[in-house]
Amino acid sequence: METIQRGLDGVVIDTSQICSIDGLKGELIYRGYDIRELADKASFEEVVYLLWNGTLPTQSELDAFRDELRPHFAVPSEALEVLRHFPKEKSPMHALRTAVSLLPASDPESEGVGLDNVRRIGLRLSAQIVTLTAALQRLREGEEPVAPHPDLGLAANFLYMTRGERPTDAAVRVMDVALVLHAEHGSNASTFVARATASTLTDVYSAVVAAIGSLKGPLHGGANTAVMQMLEEIGSTQAVDAYIVDKLAEPKARIPGFGHRVYRVLDPRAAVLEEVSQKLAEESGDAKWFEMSQEMERVMDREMGRRGKGVKPNVDFFSASVYRMLGFPAEMYTPIFTVARVPGWMAHLLEQYADNRLMRPKLAYEGPKGETFVPIEAR
Ligand SMILES: CC(C)(COP(=O)(O)OP(=O)(O)OC[C@H]1O[C@@H](n2cnc3c(N)ncnc32)[C@H](O)[C@@H]1OP(=O)(O)O)[C@@H](O)C(=O)NCCC(=O)NCCS
Repeated sequence: METIQRGLDGVVIDTSQICSIDGLKGELIYRGYDIRELADKASFEEVVYLLWNGTLPTQSELDAFRDELRPHFAVPSEALEVLRHFPKEKSPMHALRTAVSLLPASDPESEGVGLDNVRRIGLRLSAQIVTLTAALQRLREGEEPVAPHPDLGLAANFLYMTRGERPTDAAVRVMDVALVLHAEHGSNASTFVARATASTLTDVYSAVVAAIGSLKGPLHGGANTAVMQMLEEIGSTQAVDAYIVDKLAEPKARIPGFGHRVYRVLDPRAAVLEEVSQKLAEESGDAKWFEMSQEMERVMDREMGRRGKGVKPNVDFFSASVYRMLGFPAEMYTPIFTVARVPGWMAHLLEQYADNRLMRPKLAYEGPKGETFVPIEAR
């Protein structure tokens, strides 16, 4: 008898040096460093360097890494044209995925999967996804894209290119924290897709395009957009309780931003983002989204407790109110997740290509057997 692990639940597909998650302790570690400390002290570039190289950079290594990234923010005009003409009523993730599909066209070395080339494409994609996502937001709001600023890094350039003006240090810091928290999460669905795609020894671009398609889903990266759409639909803190009770009465109800395959306690990323959200609410004087989120957490705790289920907020829950207070529209939250996760996928692609084995699981066949073929005219 074959053992079937639906959803690959608990299946270990390989070893990895990149990330460890303890779902019972609520612990997330990148290359040996606790995520809470990285979120508190490191820039996004430092964390990307760490994920790719296994050590934190010295100041000169970090400066050199930033210099390596700098020339890659520019994107080919055809990719911007895709964003410009993609129907606005469609998910922006379709537009982003399609634009990324065009990037190998302007890369003469698009196919090589040697580690130097994979790393070079990683630099390119990590910077270009920032420019594409910012341009996508502006075009969807009827504004022209802003060219990348040569002096700015990943988080600051993203804010600069979406807003058209240099962001404050405080806004860059919040963006850095959000990107650090979303950069990496072990063998999550999209990272698994990236690795499985790369395991055929296809190119990096194909693996990243496949991963973007996976991240889009509402059970994965799409949840942050769904959280804000839900908060907008509810409209006020007073209406949260009745809304959740009604929703949970529906069969197979899922409240976006809650629950996780791995965490049985609070997702540590959600804890950090809750603090960030509270700080932004206090500073801006607009506490609506934070208060609604806290009320939702309270009601879910009560309702899930009644059902004997430990379903807690995940990373997507408080990131929604944080992105809202940074001024991003709800539909852009999943593309922003992509900005953070591309470097994380790249860390895994470096690991996968370094010691590849084709991923080829099995399905247990339960269909009919021994059918007699009937010619089409006799069926
Ligand atoms: C993330 C998710 C897909 C994990 O699913 P999973 O590992 O398959 O967990 P399960 O669906 O087995 O959940 C276990 C129980 O908790 C409940 N549960 C889990 N997430 C829930 C949610 N968001 N809302 C309500 N109930 C939930 C389920 O009803 C289930 O109970 P059951 O076994 O009696 O049906 C799921 O929690 C979910 O759909 N969350 C909402 C989407 C989301 O926020 N995704 C982003 C994840 S970072």
